[in-house]
Amino acid sequence: MAINYDERIPNNVELSSNKTLQRALEQWQPSYLDWWREMGPDNSTNYDVYLRTAVSVEANGWAHFDYVKMPDYRWGIFLTPGEENKKITFGDHKGDDVWQEVPGEYRSTLRRIIVTQGDTEPASVEQQRHLGLTAPSLYDLRNLFQVNVEEGRHLWAMVYLLHAHFGRDGREEGEALLERRSGDADNPRILTAFNEKTPDWLSFFMFTFATDRDGKYQLASLAESAFDPLARTCKFMLTEEAHHLFVGEQGVSRIIQRTCEVMNELKTDDAAKLRAAGVIDLPTLQKYLNFHFSVTSDLYGAEISSNAATYYTTGLKGRFEETKLADDHKLDNSEYEVMDVAGDRILTRHVPALTALNERLRDDWVTDIQSGVSRWNRVPEKLGVNFKFTLPHKGFHRKIGMFADVHVAPDGRLLSEAEWTHQHKNWLPSEEDRLFVHSLMGSCLEPGKYANWIAAPNRGINNKPVDFEYVRFN
Ligand SMILES: [Fe+2]
Ligand SMILES: [Fe+2]
Repeated sequence: MAINYDERIPNNVELSSNKTLQRALEQWQPSYLDWWREMGPDNSTNYDVYLRTAVSVEANGWAHFDYVKMPDYRWGIFLTPGEENKKITFGDHKGDDVWQEVPGEYRSTLRRIIVTQGDTEPASVEQQRHLGLTAPSLYDLRNLFQVNVEEGRHLWAMVYLLHAHFGRDGREEGEALLERRSGDADNPRILTAFNEKTPDWLSFFMFTFATDRDGKYQLASLAESAFDPLARTCKFMLTEEAHHLFVGEQGVSRIIQRTCEVMNELKTDDAAKLRAAGVIDLPTLQKYLNFHFSVTSDLYGAEISSNAATYYTTGLKGRFEETKLADDHKLDNSEYEVMDVAGDRILTRHVPALTALNERLRDDWVTDIQSGVSRWNRVPEKLGVNFKFTLPHKGFHRKIGMFADVHVAPDGRLLSEAEWTHQHKNWLPSEEDRLFVHSLMGSCLEPGKYANWIAAPNRGINNKPVDFEYVRFN
């Protein structure tokens, strides 16, 4: 399935054979570019960036690397190839043919799902738009821009579905996706985590580590959808998403490495001395992890949710790796364990599995994120530094669901309001911590140079050296 780059909108969906759709998308394209110029990476219009562009949707060799000016990036519509005789794999319609068109009764629900996913894509670009001004290296700057252009493409992916399958409503939603703004008081992005600031590079790496990973799990469950165009769109987005997770995990890992090296040099774990030496002490990194873990956790929604049950039974949204799971894929008689708060205790109870699908997806994400944290822990271990990063309890610092009205310590103790007020500074970045991290940010843009607070990567992008000129300023 080759991608047609001869058209104004690169695509592998034979866009030119559907003139109405093609025209609608060509009308949306200039608005998108206006949005990119206004809200995309600050001051970056003339940079030549060593970016990858999708040239095919095959697993091998789908990406092409070259210098591109970002506004000229070939944003387009790429779907994983369809399978013949594909059947629905879960829910009430299990065994039926997948749908190529949206069933009328699910129209508004599906539209909402697509809009909510679509909204996160431009939101993260907006959140990250100032980071280019303080990049710790050309390598990191390029990675930021790669993530940004691909989030832009993910918006294209969702807008394609809206235009192709939801008529006039879909086109209106497509416009609204360019009108909301992250953090705007009057017209904010839909989900809370996407209205938070990403004020510094530590936050960026934590965000791509934790929150882009939420993206992975949402996309993976939509990739199981009975609505085949959505499933195929999300499958290809997942290919791109993997790099975003890499950027986050490797970014934090390099920060840990640098801190541990300085700890060894100075033979100290004293935070004040390490900060004076210009690196981020490990307990502060732990606080950032706590923050991003808890805020992202909320994105999965309430533990018990009748909406989640409906999405599943109707076939709109499956579980992570649905077809690899060995059960009836209907879940009418299954249970799932969730946590609950009873008086002054946190306990677990069994609930119908269908109602607990949010929690289940969150648990899948937690398992994945724990593996990442365990990989981080190898860094101090290797350098002989005695420190272990841990994930806080699921109830820590939550705003949605079971734990929204209580305070939970990272170790899972329920706390009084007073105890929380007294102690939360030990667990979440304080104003002072943020100011310190902020004070380290300053651009370091000479090829091969890396800011003092972060180690160089082991290798570069696409087999290029780490001192490659990943971005050229004009
Ligand atoms: Fe995305
Ligand atoms: Fe992403």
